[in-house]
Parts: sequence; C-alpha cells; structure tokens
Amino acid sequence: MSESNLEFDVVVIGAGPGGYVAAIRAAQLGLRVACVDENKALGGTCLRVGCIPSKAMLESSEKFAETRDGLAVHGVKVADVQLDLAAMLKRKERIVSTLTTGVKSLFKKNDITAFTGKARLAGGGRVVVSGDGETTLNAKNVIIATGSRSADLRGVELDGDRIGTSTEALGYPEVPGHLAVIGAGYIGMELGSVWRRLGAKVTMIEYLDRILPGTDAEIAAAAKKLFDKQGFEFQLGAKVTAARRDGDGCVVEYELEGAKKSLACDRVLLAVGRTPNTEGLDLAAAGVELTDKGRVKVDAQFRTTAAGVYAIGDVIGGAMLAHKAEEEGIACAEQIARGVSHVDYHAIPAVVYTHPEIAAVGRTEEQLVADGVGFRKGAFPFRANGRARTLDDVEGMVKVLADANTDRLLGVHILGPRAGDLIAEAAVAMAFDASAEDLALSCHAHPTLSEALKEAAMAVAGRAIHF
Ligand code: NAI
Repeated sequence: MSESNLEFDVVVIGAGPGGYVAAIRAAQLGLRVACVDENKALGGTCLRVGCIPSKAMLESSEKFAETRDGLAVHGVKVADVQLDLAAMLKRKERIVSTLTTGVKSLFKKNDITAFTGKARLAGGGRVVVSGDGETTLNAKNVIIATGSRSADLRGVELDGDRIGTSTEALGYPEVPGHLAVIGAGYIGMELGSVWRRLGAKVTMIEYLDRILPGTDAEIAAAAKKLFDKQGFEFQLGAKVTAARRDGDGCVVEYELEGAKKSLACDRVLLAVGRTPNTEGLDLAAAGVELTDKGRVKVDAQFRTTAAGVYAIGDVIGGAMLAHKAEEEGIACAEQIARGVSHVDYHAIPAVVYTHPEIAAVGRTEEQLVADGVGFRKGAFPFRANGRARTLDDVEGMVKVLADANTDRLLGVHILGPRAGDLIAEAAVAMAFDASAEDLALSCHAHPTLSEALKEAAMAVAGRAIHF
C-alpha cells in the first residue's frame, strides 16, 4: 500500500458493534475510514464469542428442552428425544461465520479498509498496527472501540478448558454432569440456562443475596422463583475464594455465612463482570486518561483527553451492552463529521435471554425511591393475557412505572415470554417522552403479548380491564 493509501479521516480501533457501526456511519458521511481489529473475523466479542453464539445456543437448547418436556400439553407426542451436541455447536458456528462475513461485505460496500493486527496510538494522529509486520496509519481522528473481556477473580485458576469464561462455555464438547457458575448476572444466568436445559446440574454461586444485580428487585425475585422451579441450585451471599482443577473435575471454594464451603463439579464458568480493554494501546503516552474505574475518560461528545481521539462502547462508562455501543458509534461518527451528536441514555433497553426473558428500560423501583421521585405503578400478569395462554407461557408480568405528577414513563420492566421484543415499544415510548396514558390509549392487536404492556399502562391509573 502506498503512503497516501494510509491517510484516513477516521481510524477505528476495534471491529465490534461499537467500532464497525462507527466505521460504517463515518463512511456514509463521506469520510475516508479504516478499521483495525486483531481478529480476522469482524464483529468483535458480540458476533464471535458473545451475544450471537450465546443466543444461538439459547435457542437450540430451548427447542431441545421444549421438545423433551413441553410438547405433551399441546397434544404432540415425541418419543426418544436425543441431543446431537456436535450438530448444535456446528449450527452456532455457521451463524457466527455468516454474520462476521456479513460485516466484511458491509465494509467492502462502504469502502472501509480493514487492517488485521494489534493497534496502538503513536501520537500525532498516528496509529501503528502490528500484524504481519508493522503498518503506520495517519488519522485525522481515532475512535477507540476496543470493548471488554471477562473479568478475573482472585483464586480462580482459569485453564481455558474446565475452568473458563463464557468463551469456553459456548462450546463445551460434552454436557457437564455438574456445572458451577460463579456470578448470577446476565452471562451466568444465560449460559447456565443453556447447559441446564441440555441436562447439566447447574449451581449458581453468587456474592449478593439476590440474582441479576441492576435488575428491578421485584422482577429479579420473581425470576429467581421460576429458575428455582426449573432446577437451578442457588448459593446466594456466597463469596468465591478459589476454584481449581481436582483430578478429572474441579473444586470451588466459597464462604457462606462465615463458614467455608467447597463444591465438587465437572466444570466452572466464571462470570463476574467484564474489564475494559485498555492495555497495549499506549494510551498514557498519547495523553488519553482513564477514570478511577479504569475506563477511558470521555466527555458527552466521546472526546478523550487527547485531541482527535474519541472512545465509545464498553471501554468507556455506562452499561456494557452491544446496542449502547452501536448508538455511541453512530453518534461519534456524526460528531466527527458534523459536530453534533446525541444518545438518549434514558431509553436504552436491557435484556436477559433466559426463559422467560427479562427486559427493562428506564429506572427500577429502587432507583426511583433512592432518587426521591414520586411514581405510580401498574402491573399486569401474563397469566391474564390470552396470547400467553395459547402459547402455554404464562409466567411473569409487565410493570410500568410512571411519574406521580406528570404520568411520564420512568421505567418499564418485563418478565415473560418474548420480553426482549416487547420492550422495544416501551423504549420508543420513552424516547418520545410518552406518558403511561399514551401507551394505555394506543390500540394493541388482539391477541398479542403486547396487550400485557397496554394493560400494565392502564393499571397505572387503576383501570386494567382483564385483571
Ligand atoms: P454481571 O455484572 O451482570 O454479574 C456478575 C455477578 O457476579 C454479579 O451478580 C456479582 O455480584 C457476582 N460476583 C462478583 N464477584 C463474585 C464472587 N467473588 N463470588 C460470587 N459472585 C460474584 O456480569 P456478567 O454476567 O459477567 O456480564 C458482564 C457484562 O456483559 C454485563 O455488563 C452485561 O450487561 C453484559 N452482558 C449482556 C448480555 C445481554 O444483554 N443479554 C448478556 C451477557 C452479558
């Protein structure tokens, strides 16, 4: 490549949902764009070893469990249901490959140059890529979108096999007899669900006295009851101090109510949060400062403390969610090209893809109480929703929280079938500053699950019809 071919308006470091989306939007806005990633397969953690493969496994395992346990009620008899784990894993790999190849074609279509290698900032708008040799790119603007990785836990000896993170748990070669999951957060509950459905005994060991921190407490407690019924074992209030190999299996040590406990199991999944990827970028030398939490410090326009260097996604503050990173990627590209940008952080949904799903947008009841905001609450159970009955999927509820004075929507929380899809309506409503009454007065098709959201909005004013 000649010198002039290495001059770019924007160099994006990281091709995950934040980075690749920022690259595409910047190219759409007429900028000359390069994107660097150490992996040849584009799409980052989300596409390669995160959201997409985990959802593929959640879908397949749910189909298996339903075929085995859930069809008789529909009058469908199935005998001798068998698991072909190798085929299930292959299907997951095919989906990953289709989507990562898809990002490659989007880059081609938008004339974005992809570089494979590790990038570091060399100051003066230069980005050095170490891959096959070293290449120096000259960039008017740099976007750091390097994402995050599984957090370590002191005493837990990861071996990349039996004691691993979500990456290993996406592809165990056999169903573990007993899987111990450290951390009952998003990743722990989702991947624990996959292996439980496929036949593993799953023990969740969680430091807090509740599951899914950050989720509305009432919803999390209701979900926990359902997970108990599904056969999950929970050790809450348990602080893991060690996990190591022991013969063919593993042992996890933890403290519970002052007593030392140990658990023998076949595999261990460590899921205690994620750490931003800030190492190896030479950030300090380039003048890019970190916060005291180790994230890249940015202002509301994603500008770091170094001129011409921006950062988005998991590497900066806020929720570590792919769609939050995408919004920031688009906004950051527009900031660079046009000098204006906006992300509405009040209306970013979050979804846990267990069964039933758990989805939320806006503030929880606990946050509103802590913030001293007066609110009214409307709740509606899926048990009273016709479509949920026909699906034979009636567990859970919708909860709508609205401002006590203005009726403006402050938070919507759903535990129930397809909650992850239902929450989109609430997120749009909140983005438009809708009131609970706006939702209540909008006609929803019958019979659909979405009627539960309308009824919960009606319940805010004490006028739900079916409950
Ligand atoms: P998390 O923060 O959701 O949960 C980690 C859990 O580990 C917490 O409940 C914490 O109390 C517990 N923990 C910490 N130290 C412990 C110890 N010593 N012993 C026992 N438990 C301990 O983190 P997770 O599940 O790893 O997910 C990481 C990030 O990825 C999250 O920010 C999440 O938003 C994101 N994610 C999102 C998904 C989605 O949108 N569906 C799916 C998976 C991950």
